[in-house]
Amino acid sequence: MNILLLGSGGREHALAWKLAQSPLCTRLFIAPGNAGTTQCGTNVSIQPTDFNALGAFCLKEEIGMLVVGPEEPLVKGIADFFYDEASLRSILLIGPSRAGAMLEGSKAVAKAFMKRNDIPTAAYRVFDNHSFEEGLPYLQQHTLPVVLKADGLAAGKGVLICTSRDEALAEFTSMIRENKFGEAAKKVVVEEHLQGLELSVFVLTDGRNYVVLPEAKDYKRIGEGDTGLNTGGMGAVSPVPFADKVFMDKVEQRIVMPTIKGLAAEKIRYTGIVFIGLIKVGEDPYVIEYNCRLGDPETEVVLPRLQNDLVELFEMAATHRLEHAKIQADPRTACTVMTVSGGYPEQFQKGFPIQGLEEPLPSGSLLFHAATRQEGGKIVTTGGRVLTATSFGSSVAEAAANAKKALEKISFQEMYFRKDIGFEFA
Ligand code: AMP
Ligand code: GLY
Repeated sequence: MNILLLGSGGREHALAWKLAQSPLCTRLFIAPGNAGTTQCGTNVSIQPTDFNALGAFCLKEEIGMLVVGPEEPLVKGIADFFYDEASLRSILLIGPSRAGAMLEGSKAVAKAFMKRNDIPTAAYRVFDNHSFEEGLPYLQQHTLPVVLKADGLAAGKGVLICTSRDEALAEFTSMIRENKFGEAAKKVVVEEHLQGLELSVFVLTDGRNYVVLPEAKDYKRIGEGDTGLNTGGMGAVSPVPFADKVFMDKVEQRIVMPTIKGLAAEKIRYTGIVFIGLIKVGEDPYVIEYNCRLGDPETEVVLPRLQNDLVELFEMAATHRLEHAKIQADPRTACTVMTVSGGYPEQFQKGFPIQGLEEPLPSGSLLFHAATRQEGGKIVTTGGRVLTATSFGSSVAEAAANAKKALEKISFQEMYFRKDIGFEFA
């Protein structure tokens, strides 16, 4: 089967690496891909939101499976576009319909879905321009800290944790009245702050049945010790020591099952990944967010641990046969450490050549490109998160040490990475 994968980050390089290993994969194309994905297949210069061009490409290259990496095409309705077009409908598409993707595309939609389906999450209210005046007294009496979330997609930047009432009122005002996050913040979810360790859980569903992939924890802050600004993700580990069987059983019973049941009951077409971002409060899991795709950089530790054939799993999902699937995971710990451009997540420069890519990696380590491009004879940086090294170990500390060792030969101007990924489990 020929496969087309959409996206260009570290998640997509890891997906391309895993898909290409399957005997079921004949040709793999990545649109648009990066310098790393060319090791696994053929890059195609089409943007993931150019549905017409993607449809034409799929017909020309006889694509049998379309795997959607990032959220944007899903929220814009790529699955509906392919479903509605008779000549494209038979392509196995990994990614939910637009209605399903709204679990990520609108925090208000996600919260209402959780409420209807009795899924544990932080208490909340939604405000917009019309209810702005009611929001002010609501914030005045809210416990601190209070969490403000822009409703729509905001590339991970739409969440504010306010520790004072003045800050909360000022941010609330600038989100709703001054369009701080643009369209995304026309509605604001105000929610209770939950204190605890976070966990990313990835569920692959065919709309009725599901399997839970290895869990992961990512490290979102730029600075060591989880300090400084939020980023797309600076590293990840899998498995996560506190996610033991007792806890994961609660996650499955209280969150995963009602989520999948709710999607089916509400007739939302959902083939693909439900990424549940949750937080452990005391001994209990609460949902912080849903995403409609795999996480980045979580994918860079989840897929190296996954021993199943990913094309086979995706095929079972797209043909509604997931009840026959059983997940096999490498019991060792995987850790990934992301290198970023100096200045990220604020202003940074790009276009710097990357040295050391031709050096052999320590055995068992993997290097996934996230923002790179081939330029003449060189590979150069093209974004904030540049590349990530994934390594294994018998503990989090050993896996993290191996990932840092794998980065020893890699360098580019102003390269930065956190040296403490996995620190709380060391
Ligand atoms: P989100 O974009 O919803 O993933 O939120 C980004 C980050 O904000 C999360 O990973 C959490 O660290 C934090 N966060 C979001 N909601 C809450 C909450 N209710 N309580 C505590 N932290 C939160
Ligand atoms: N690492 C979090 C995300 O992909 O949204």
